[in-house]
Amino acid sequence: MVRINANFNKLPGSYLFSEIARRVAAYGEANPDRTLIRLGIGDVTRPLPAAVTAAMHKAVDEMATAQGFHGYGPEQGYDFLRQAIAQHDYKARGVDIQPNEIFVSDGAKSDCGNIGDIFGTDNVVAVCDPVYPVYVDTNAMAGRAGDYDAATGRWTNLIYMPCVAANGFSPAIPAEKVDLIYLCFPNNPTGAVATRAQLKAWVDHANATGAVILYDSAYEAFITDPAIPHSIFEIEGARTCAIEFRSFSKTAGFTGTRCAYTVIPKELEREGTSLNSLWNRRQCTKFNGVPYVVQRGAEAVYRPEGRAQVRETIQYYLNNAKIIRDGLAAAGLTVSGGENSPYIWAATPDGMGSWDFFDKLLREANVVTTPGAGFGPSGEGYIRLTAFGEAEATRQAVERIKAVL
Ligand code: MLT
Repeated sequence: MVRINANFNKLPGSYLFSEIARRVAAYGEANPDRTLIRLGIGDVTRPLPAAVTAAMHKAVDEMATAQGFHGYGPEQGYDFLRQAIAQHDYKARGVDIQPNEIFVSDGAKSDCGNIGDIFGTDNVVAVCDPVYPVYVDTNAMAGRAGDYDAATGRWTNLIYMPCVAANGFSPAIPAEKVDLIYLCFPNNPTGAVATRAQLKAWVDHANATGAVILYDSAYEAFITDPAIPHSIFEIEGARTCAIEFRSFSKTAGFTGTRCAYTVIPKELEREGTSLNSLWNRRQCTKFNGVPYVVQRGAEAVYRPEGRAQVRETIQYYLNNAKIIRDGLAAAGLTVSGGENSPYIWAATPDGMGSWDFFDKLLREANVVTTPGAGFGPSGEGYIRLTAFGEAEATRQAVERIKAVL
């Protein structure tokens, strides 16, 4: 009889956002007269920039010709896109990343989850708490997390780095020896950012111990403070200890179009082996690349008109973030995030449990949020709201929440 990967049996319930979708659908079916406003999952609502759709239309027309047809593309991504990324996301910020250090993919979620393929299952993994659940669940699937302890909400073999109000939602470097360190800034879910000095401490620590930092900067486009780094590679020494994940999803509205990339510097080696080569080997074996049409769309993000349109969209979401922040604060909630991030992290009133507050807002305000506890034990007592909604719906949601409070 075949044996399954028994690690899957250890996963509690369902994936966080699937569970929320299930609860919201059940509520919607039971209350068809209610109009729900969804500020739960971080899915964008603005259409793709016109420059992107124009480039995609052109690419579709090319595909209809014998000369312009593209079959399998390079697994690592087309050179035109890797060049554009290296130039605009890195060189323009004074960071030297070569196109052959960039791997174009169908999503930062996939890459954050799949990167574990190139690391042994006996590595010690450190995650922030609260944390984007993909890092935890994929390590659990690989057998790196140990067992889930329902009493603490923690996995026995993971090192949790609490991100709480007392430390400004910034994790301390763990005292234990850790091998893989997941960091996400601007942070999902708290919206916190990391300063240059904080990132330098992580880089120095990783270089000193041989750890590797898995740096998720999917939300870097929302950074408004010029002093905050957008990339771990802005930090001296990161080329020998870090992998970075980026995405067009939240930047340019690609959540349904799918395009992202991962950067692995050539200098990054462990046990005498290049991690860039390992990831290349993994991608060539398991991945056939992002569609040509989509990569042409992504390339257009870097053209002058594409950049202007993206800036406008980001500003639209940041305006929503301000409306949420100011509104919830006016209603008496303690809020953080939302200034360099599309996520607002709000403490529940009177120490209410986060799932209870989620339910209250769903039932009484008909607003969907994300319970902080879903991101880990230190998320208990918080909810997360996203700024990715439509502006008018966001305003209405805030008014409804204020009325409930
Ligand atoms: C979130 O809501 O945390 C994100 O949208 C999830 C994701 O990007 O996969």
